[in-house]
Amino acid sequence: MNFQKRTHTCNELRERHIDSKVLLNGWVDTRRDLGGVIFIDLRDRYGITQVVFEPGYNEPAHEIAKELRGEYVISIEGKVRKRPEGTENVDLETGLVDVMVDKIIILNKALTPPFQIKDDLDVNEDIRLKYRYLDLRRKEMQANLLLRHKMYQEVRKYFDENSFVEVETPVLMKSTPEGARDFLVPSRLHKGRFYALPQSPQQYKQLLMVSGLDRYFQVVKCFRDEDLRADRQPEFTQIDVEMSFVDTEDVYSMMEGLMKHLFAEVKGLELKTPIPRLTFDEAMEKYGSDKPDLRFDLPMVTLNEVFAKTGFKVFKDTLESNGVITGLVAKGCGTYTRNQLDVLTDYAKKLGAGGLIWMRVKDDGLEAPIAKFLSDEEKANLRDVLNAETGDLILILSGPRLKALSIMGSLRLEMAHRMELIKSDSEPKLLWVTDFPLLEWDDETQRYYAMHHPFTSPNTEDIELMDTEPGKVRARAYDLVLNGNEIAGGSIRIHNSVLQAKMFKALGISNEEAEEKFGFLMNAFKYGAPPHGGIAFGFDRLAMLFAGKNSIREVIAFPKTTSGSSLMDESPSVVDEQQLKELHLKIK
Ligand code: AMO
Repeated sequence: MNFQKRTHTCNELRERHIDSKVLLNGWVDTRRDLGGVIFIDLRDRYGITQVVFEPGYNEPAHEIAKELRGEYVISIEGKVRKRPEGTENVDLETGLVDVMVDKIIILNKALTPPFQIKDDLDVNEDIRLKYRYLDLRRKEMQANLLLRHKMYQEVRKYFDENSFVEVETPVLMKSTPEGARDFLVPSRLHKGRFYALPQSPQQYKQLLMVSGLDRYFQVVKCFRDEDLRADRQPEFTQIDVEMSFVDTEDVYSMMEGLMKHLFAEVKGLELKTPIPRLTFDEAMEKYGSDKPDLRFDLPMVTLNEVFAKTGFKVFKDTLESNGVITGLVAKGCGTYTRNQLDVLTDYAKKLGAGGLIWMRVKDDGLEAPIAKFLSDEEKANLRDVLNAETGDLILILSGPRLKALSIMGSLRLEMAHRMELIKSDSEPKLLWVTDFPLLEWDDETQRYYAMHHPFTSPNTEDIELMDTEPGKVRARAYDLVLNGNEIAGGSIRIHNSVLQAKMFKALGISNEEAEEKFGFLMNAFKYGAPPHGGIAFGFDRLAMLFAGKNSIREVIAFPKTTSGSSLMDESPSVVDEQQLKELHLKIK
């Protein structure tokens, strides 16, 4: 159907337009029939304008307006008028005027949508995902997409101004073990062979350093077949970065610059730099997490020394097996009932703790089921070390080091929620976590895995430990954390093939396997590789935090559910027998 183009958007008309003839296009947001006069709120991406159909003003237009329903797409022509006194709407930018309609064309009718197109929607997320195109009509979702758009632009501007080159890397690549499971794409032309979708452009960006690009970035889709959560999607976006001739400090300061730029341009906030740092060990010990939320303090305290000579068997066993005893003081929670404490104990047990020790701090001492097992000196020291005062609650966990620390870390978050320590307007808390372990032992497969990825450089002074005590080697790897979320991770890379071979050995990867899987990268390193390092941001997570949301699905136009399906297009779906045949595949 032919239609006349709009003269204005639905958020343009102001008092200065009074008496002008205008043409608007948009969706019927709401319709009110007030005794013959029909008011329509006409909506587009930019805003809302009230348009008015009066039988006395234009009878035919009023007749057509009777047919209008929510979400009809219409085109109207009319005259801007000052709203009658008392009917102005200060909540609308166009609220001082409306349009008296002379002519209306219904461009398209619409079924009644399965949910209202409005903010603060109380409807199951599955319905929103099935009708995502309608969900995205809502102002809140449009604001999220616009914010995300602004972030892309500012990211690109920042990197461009700092001499970075955006290079696209392949989406069909070789399957290389990197951490998560690959998504595979069968080749039609090469029977029995597969491409993998990149978990990240890691090897390519390193190759670009070998090519001399010096500074690379890319806003890039990555694919990982892993268990999904609120902050994980099977396909997600990274701001991927790599730099040559740099050490960790160069990466930190360039990325702090990016954060400063984004906070200033997108949020209007001045971010103080340098961003504080904690080593992985410090973060685990004090906050029980490698991504601590520092919007509140609530630190954990290691109590091994307090109980060094203890007679209490649980602690004694822990200390003998090199474990940790860690404590936390919840200020003013000494009034927790037995019931509340049982709930906390169950919480810790669900996470794998053997039990949770609690103590109420009273004027005359510690009230606790285990009090009788502790000496007076231990109790006094405990109060001292923890700075515990009357009315406080002490929580203690003991066990294998990382396990006990992480469970206490979760408990710390739980207590922060219970104690309402996280204020919605708290300023953003960024933190670098540094010196991650290079390798992680896996009991199930009885081998080490790279904690970051196999190309991460060990700390120079720890290289010798690689043969003797691989578990103790620290990596030149770092994460950036925002309000308890890991928003970026990276490392300085190994850039010579000898050290890389040593790393593969520590990972139990044979020469042949390394050659087969990473031969192209190893070969490249033989032709003059510069020292290099980089980082990648989880763009969706960053956008989620900037938008103040709890799930990355809120800032992704067409996300998958937690079971990895798209409710809208119903993927993954079955395919034709013929398609399978061409790909040399058979479904068993
Ligand atoms: P890493 O695996 O730490 O590093 O990923 C970088 C960042 O990407 C985000 N992220 C995700 N976001 C949404 N859904 C997911 N499934 C998901 N997985 C990761 C996180 C994470 O911090 N190549 C290296 C980077 C490097 O070494 O330069 C890499 O991919 O915010």
